[in-house]
Amino acid sequence: MPRWGATLRNGMLSVEENNLISRVGPGTPMGNLMRQYWIPAMASSELPHPDSDPVRVMLLGEKLIAFRDSNGNVGLLQHNCPHRGASLFFGRNEEGGLRCVYHGWKFSTDGTCVDMPNEPAESDFKQKVKAVAYPTQERGGVVWTYMGPRIEPPPLPDLEPNMRSDRRLSVRVTQQESNWLQVLEGDIDTVHAGFLHGGSYKPDEMPKGTFRDYMYRDRTARFEVINTECGALYGAYRDGPPGYNYWRLAYYLFPFYDMPAPGLLGYKISCICRVPMDDEHTLSFFMNAHDPEVQLGGGERFGGNPTLPNTTDWYGRFRTKANPTNDFFLDREIQRRNEGHAGYSGIPGGAAMQDAAITWSMGSIYQRQNERLGTTDVMIIRVRRRLIDAARALAEQGTTPPGVDDPEVYRVRSGGVFLPKDANWVAATEDLRKAFVHHAELDPALTGDA
Ligand code: FES
Ligand SMILES: [Fe+2]
Repeated sequence: MPRWGATLRNGMLSVEENNLISRVGPGTPMGNLMRQYWIPAMASSELPHPDSDPVRVMLLGEKLIAFRDSNGNVGLLQHNCPHRGASLFFGRNEEGGLRCVYHGWKFSTDGTCVDMPNEPAESDFKQKVKAVAYPTQERGGVVWTYMGPRIEPPPLPDLEPNMRSDRRLSVRVTQQESNWLQVLEGDIDTVHAGFLHGGSYKPDEMPKGTFRDYMYRDRTARFEVINTECGALYGAYRDGPPGYNYWRLAYYLFPFYDMPAPGLLGYKISCICRVPMDDEHTLSFFMNAHDPEVQLGGGERFGGNPTLPNTTDWYGRFRTKANPTNDFFLDREIQRRNEGHAGYSGIPGGAAMQDAAITWSMGSIYQRQNERLGTTDVMIIRVRRRLIDAARALAEQGTTPPGVDDPEVYRVRSGGVFLPKDANWVAATEDLRKAFVHHAELDPALTGDA
């Protein structure tokens, strides 16, 4: 059990605090915190049909086997068979359950042992055995699981991009070999976009009067951060059209969600989930509810960022073709020319791949005591503090962390907006930040994204 650091001195984390905030295995404070919530475990497409092949799933440092039974229900069982530990990955997925091929014990999706053919017929041993099984639900193309202590799990979070069946829902998943929090911190760090993704852009090449115009005229921003019921919200502003500021708003939501700043506030419906497979591997779920009429920004974000075919390995799911073994296809010639979206970094493949390359390059768990944090890191400092406080409150007082029993606090949106210079940014954006609201007056072309 790590010692609790007394304070975050100027936002700096001690070694103990860094361990606390990074590690998510069973019994760790942050692992216990995450186990209070439903967790996106897989894409539904990984289990394409009833009785399809079982899949190895690494989640919060636990080895699990996922399968879809004959009725289409998803089971998530601990991978060692409760009899003598054979891996249920090798199991036969047949007739409403997963059967261990060692001695034939068979388990339903809730872990009930439904058949024990190696025991004599009069034995009632079957009734005494249960496999560890985590409840699942499917919604919007995602298999969710609850790995926590409650008999009756809490509700799923009301995440609009995973719920809008009237929209075109998409879920894209990628894996990277680094700790979940350093990946997430990239999403709430608005100013890097003006360098990593757009350092080559000249302001006078941008569509006049759009977000991009103002973003590249001024590559810094002033930050304001507030706590919300379920995390934190920042507004970062710089000059906009005469009399206005250009604001970029983004949410952090417990425990590992964020809604980042690109796009138009009130219009964009998207969320990123940075789910820890273990301390050193993260699965990112990019959930979007697209306007079926318009397609904006998606190409730039994901274009040229393909994943390899999934393998059955514990770490074989959603690996990206660009990775440290090929330096993320870094092209020094592109970097030297310094033009276009990949020009500054030399890393092709869109913003998501550039983000992954950089947070991956920090190493599997960055030692944050080496950081030097500035004024634009204020949101990151706030989120770390909220996480540490919530993990401490759970461990010491048993306090349920934010949002677990309040699905409606996830009904929010993020993005950019022009506000009059004298506006209160929180009050002025209240309606635009509400999920499930249609704003017919908004024009997505305002972003200037191609
Ligand atoms: S180890 Fe699975 S049935 Fe024996
Ligand atoms: Fe980024």
